[in-house]
Amino acid sequence: MNASPFARRSACALLLCALPAASYSQSPFRVTSPDGRNIVTVNVRQGALVYSVTRNGDNVVLPSRLGFTFRNAPPLRDSLRIASETHSSFDETWTQPWGEVARVRDHHNEMRVEVAETTAPNRHFTFAVRAFDDGIGFRYELPAQPGITDYEISDELTEFALADNGRAWWIASNRPRLDRSEQLFSEGPVSTLDSVQTPLTMEMTNGTYVVIHEANLVDYPRMFLAGPRMESRTLRAALAPWADGVKVRGHTPLVTPWRTIQIADRIEDLHPQVLTLNLNPPSKIADTRWITPQKYVGIWWGMHLNTMTWSSGPKHGATTENTRRYIDFAAANGFKGVLVEGWNLGWDGNWISNQNAFSFTQSYPDYDLPALTAYGKSKGVGIIAHNETSGGIANYERQLDDAFRLYQSLGIHNIKTGYVADTVGGGQSHYGQFAVRHHRKVIETAAKYGIAVDAHEPIHDTGERRTWPNMMSREGARGQEYNAWGAEGGNPPEHESILFFTRMLGGPMDFTPGILDVYLKATGAPHSLEEARPRTTVAKQLALYVVLYSPLQMAADLPENYAGRPEFQFIRDVAVDWDTTRVLGGRIGEYVAVARKTRDKDEWFIGAITNASARSLDVALDFLPRGRSYVAEVYADGPGANWRTNPLPVAISRRTVTSASRMEIAMAPGGGQAIRIRAVP
Ligand code: NOJ
Repeated sequence: MNASPFARRSACALLLCALPAASYSQSPFRVTSPDGRNIVTVNVRQGALVYSVTRNGDNVVLPSRLGFTFRNAPPLRDSLRIASETHSSFDETWTQPWGEVARVRDHHNEMRVEVAETTAPNRHFTFAVRAFDDGIGFRYELPAQPGITDYEISDELTEFALADNGRAWWIASNRPRLDRSEQLFSEGPVSTLDSVQTPLTMEMTNGTYVVIHEANLVDYPRMFLAGPRMESRTLRAALAPWADGVKVRGHTPLVTPWRTIQIADRIEDLHPQVLTLNLNPPSKIADTRWITPQKYVGIWWGMHLNTMTWSSGPKHGATTENTRRYIDFAAANGFKGVLVEGWNLGWDGNWISNQNAFSFTQSYPDYDLPALTAYGKSKGVGIIAHNETSGGIANYERQLDDAFRLYQSLGIHNIKTGYVADTVGGGQSHYGQFAVRHHRKVIETAAKYGIAVDAHEPIHDTGERRTWPNMMSREGARGQEYNAWGAEGGNPPEHESILFFTRMLGGPMDFTPGILDVYLKATGAPHSLEEARPRTTVAKQLALYVVLYSPLQMAADLPENYAGRPEFQFIRDVAVDWDTTRVLGGRIGEYVAVARKTRDKDEWFIGAITNASARSLDVALDFLPRGRSYVAEVYADGPGANWRTNPLPVAISRRTVTSASRMEIAMAPGGGQAIRIRAVP
């Protein structure tokens, strides 16, 4: 950290000016973002520590409470005073091994406020605040001290008193479902929220966008937000509990995750979201060359269509022969991975309750893992090993080293994990401290064996990919699979244009785009029912590769469904690792258009999607370098396309463009457009 350019303002020395807690307020302490627009103020009111946030002089968060309650100790909340503050500033640009953007600037000012209790047990802690141009972060740091050694936190009291009753897009945090992140989004004023997940995106009445989330979640539960009481707009941190109700247990020192508030004047500035990355420590993996962003296919969609099974039997998908077919298909089309689900023992019977039956090393007899990895290697294709745990954490952790050692010895560098269960570890929350510890353990163990992770039913992304770039992608929302599950399952046409401005502000998502057989004819069942299939046009399926970022992008359909489809060329061509990301426009739940530049190549891609309404966007290509000519290959909704009645037509065309060109992006109801822009040789 650089030396402080800021004057230190003295406050009373620790404990020397203790006043009766309730009788005084301190003058505020402030930290300002480098551009001067975001200001965080911290002070003590009636003995309580509070913070507030303004942007461009307007209130974003009004004075909001901070502190903790404990099961085994008095609250750390009421008799506080600020003893001192220090300031520093930081400006460094770092490079991501892969990402939505190659270079990330971490430019912030930090204020560290030392807070002391004026009554017994006289605990003290640091309240650290960082102000960036794109938002703010704060956290609590409790050093080891006699007044607090072993702790059991019953609540973190952090509040977010929103200054304005903005519109929020949210999913609930209190649904008793197998995986509670897989819900459709709701929309409504902040004052009507009940109990919601983060990232929570809000549009304020002055047009500012505010996103509450967290960064660097380590050995602490995930944060939800409890809704306001009565008519207020104050959201409260609500931590996912242990089975006995305690939220966090441990031994000081304790450093909490950062609570983040991303702030943007324009919707276009919400992506690429780098605030949470900047609040995670730098990479612990020195040589990241083995971590490979890639497109992959998988023995997967067949199980969701019910034409194959995970379990053994006549429809077993993960056979040696079938996997060879997928490897051949991947090699022929330039895809680097083949995901194989159902290869390992444990799927027979009701696999959701099979927690302890799963082996992560032993294959079914009709699946020859060593021969297949060798065959894949000869063709430049890696196997992605699937590890479904059904929430059996002990069973998985017991096998972790053996399994990863085996994969490493076979040259397997990618796994997909899964946690389909109501609870994990025999009654623990998917999102509590127990689960957070487990997921970290998987990431770190995988790194040790040169393995990258794609987690399904995960904990939300808090930017851990900066520290552990082998944590590549995850699910954590309703993905494509819901479109295979029948009338009640499917995602409505607005879903992905909400995801982009909500879930995707956490980080990459393994959504699995690329279903070209949108009528699901492969099932043989009459899928004319509109809701029982992807509610998109085919062109929108292509656009999703650009819109919904993941360094692991699946060509999710059955290989045979790509045969004879000219639009499959876009899936072959589209990149998965980006130098630059530019949002060209959007409205939450209505539409979004994104341009991304490929790494190390003068090539751009545009993805645009719309909800159930047709629309046309006029887009300037002024992001292209000047003075060069490009060919734009356009995959548009064809004549008469409509997700409901006519989803198949794709019009493929080419035109020459430069940075001075404009493009008319016309989209059908439930449609989209995908464009590749490559330099003319
Ligand atoms: C749910 C996952 O999202 C899906 O991709 C996977 O196929 C099944 N669980 C089985 O693990």
